[in-house]
Amino acid sequence: MLRIDIITVLPELIESPMNHSILKRAKAKGLAEIHLHNLRDFSEDKHKRVDDYAFSGDAGMVMRIEPIDKAISFLKSQRNYDEVIYTSPDGQLLNQQTANRLSTLENIIILCGHYKGVDQRVRDHLITMEISIGDYVLTGGELAAAVITDCIVRLIPGAMSDETSALTDSFQDGLLAPHVYTRPAEYKGWKVPDILISGNEKKIDEWKIKNSLERTRSLRPGLLEHEGE
Ligand code: ADE
Repeated sequence: MLRIDIITVLPELIESPMNHSILKRAKAKGLAEIHLHNLRDFSEDKHKRVDDYAFSGDAGMVMRIEPIDKAISFLKSQRNYDEVIYTSPDGQLLNQQTANRLSTLENIIILCGHYKGVDQRVRDHLITMEISIGDYVLTGGELAAAVITDCIVRLIPGAMSDETSALTDSFQDGLLAPHVYTRPAEYKGWKVPDILISGNEKKIDEWKIKNSLERTRSLRPGLLEHEGE
């Protein structure tokens, strides 16, 4: 079972995506546990503050190390963690390969970044990896934590109703997924490719590979450059 502990100043922002669809099902089936922790609960400050001014005098608040260390130490006193992830636009870009690896772990902490960032000592001493979900800046790490959690948990065997479908996702084999169609076979004169309704499984498989390659070549040629690595 995969357990994810998310440390955040805004648990409300993450609650909803955790309680719908595949994440909800994975939790109900006992495949994953997701726990939200409010960082303010670990603040010794009487106003429950978790940030302070930067020593450099720059504008923008910095997340303090004490409450973060307390939260992480509290969790670590209960079990071993495989990764302590910090969400940040500076981190390694999230991709399917990383999601696959993370989905095989047992215990993960995700610390959501906020304000101007965290005290550098958090990154130096408490974090094992930093993840960015894209080259743009979000208001906080909560949406990134939700994205990371979603793409990991759906990969756990049994989380998806059709277990094979995670294997045919875009990116899973380094290619974009082929086009998909459903009934009716013709709508307003717009037709489904003949091969797909031919019933010839071998031909259909060939079509899917060809379609996948063509889409990748035209939409994301960069993905093909890593072929054979
Ligand atoms: N926090 C702010 N921007 C982010 C991003 N792009 N990815 C992860 N965490 C972030």
